[in-house]
Amino acid sequence: MALQHAIPTTTREGFDGAALRADFPTFDEPTAGGKPLAYLDSAASSLKPRRMIEALSDAYAHHYANVHRGIYGLSEDATQRYEHARRRLARFIGARSEREIVFVRNATEAINLVAFSWGRANIGAGDLILSTEMEHHANIVPWQQLAAEKGARLEYVAITDEGRIDLDDLRRRLAKGPRLLVFTHVSNALGTITPVAEITRLAHEAGALVLLDVAQSVPHMPLDLAALDVDFAALSGHKMLGPSSIGALWARRELLDAMPPFMTGGSMISRVTLEGAEWNEVPWKFEAGTPPIAEAQGLTAAIDYLEGLGMDAVRAHERFLFELAWSALGGMPGVRLLGPADPDEHAGVVSFVLDRIHPHDVATIFDSEGLAVRAGHHCAQPVMLRYDIPATTRASFYVYNAPDDIERLTDAIAATQRLFHA
Ligand SMILES: Cc1ncc(COP(=O)(O)O)c(C=O)c1O
Repeated sequence: MALQHAIPTTTREGFDGAALRADFPTFDEPTAGGKPLAYLDSAASSLKPRRMIEALSDAYAHHYANVHRGIYGLSEDATQRYEHARRRLARFIGARSEREIVFVRNATEAINLVAFSWGRANIGAGDLILSTEMEHHANIVPWQQLAAEKGARLEYVAITDEGRIDLDDLRRRLAKGPRLLVFTHVSNALGTITPVAEITRLAHEAGALVLLDVAQSVPHMPLDLAALDVDFAALSGHKMLGPSSIGALWARRELLDAMPPFMTGGSMISRVTLEGAEWNEVPWKFEAGTPPIAEAQGLTAAIDYLEGLGMDAVRAHERFLFELAWSALGGMPGVRLLGPADPDEHAGVVSFVLDRIHPHDVATIFDSEGLAVRAGHHCAQPVMLRYDIPATTRASFYVYNAPDDIERLTDAIAATQRLFHA
């Protein structure tokens, strides 16, 4: 099916996603059906630019030794590059200092770090923790575990029919005096961009600390954590063009200083005797064992790539693709779209359900057309329960997507509907 309106070859902002595909070797790979790849699953994990892959390989070939322990040139070089990545990430997300960045494996580990370390030290019996119905399981299950262990209460702020955090429900629950509010900046299941500054202000007025899940926002929009005024934030490198197995916890320095270690062992200590140990300073206090040495160097290259494009341009590009997809899919019969319609409140994610066709069938047919989308509950089962659906199909956009992907998406939806409803 052709789209109603002509599709320009470049976006309004002059950022040609199709041209960028040359930087991503995955597009050189043949798909199973022999069709060109339309990669619409970046919310699960992004593809990797050649520059990042080369940096990773270069790290292993030329800049690799264990860090923070060798008194020889190779180790000093690797240490310098590892710490450089910390500085680059700090600047990229608006941290006040690189000492506020703890490298971990992924956003899930960052959230678990807070639950285990801050949570165990600060949450007691009867205390209230607030999460929301919109969260990824990574921002639900660690809090369920903590609440069960401590005898604390865990409540979930409701979401509205349009897929927003219900601010009235938030106010009601904040009035109960929670110790902590955890919520996502961008919903991976709905695409909703939440009003972080307003929610954080309300939470702080109520005396709660705020943990923001930025796994789906850091890769896609400019971020200034200091300005947002949250207390903790969790992210994954693999969603932002970087390698897997590196992510970060950002937290205010005074919180990190006061928190007990999460994991213990080598590197995180300043002194060990047979009787006990003293901890290293932050952030190293939280980085037990050998860290992601090469992955940090890959992450630097990913940040270089994104900064080369400019995060304002990345956001504008995805907003443009979202508007195109929303209006194209919204005009098709038998397509139910989830999340807010306003592009200011919606990231480059379109989550939809086709009448009487299971999302897994949709994704299987799409695959034969070269379209990679995610079908399922997106690790956000409470969102599916909220809208009384088993699953959705999700198309998520990034720098290498372009209007031709949206055209192929609408064509594939129409073909799937013809196949099932013939
Ligand atoms: C909003 C959100 N939070 C957390 C995560 C967990 O990320 P990871 O699996 O990299 O730990 C994801 C992953 O999809 C996500 O979308």
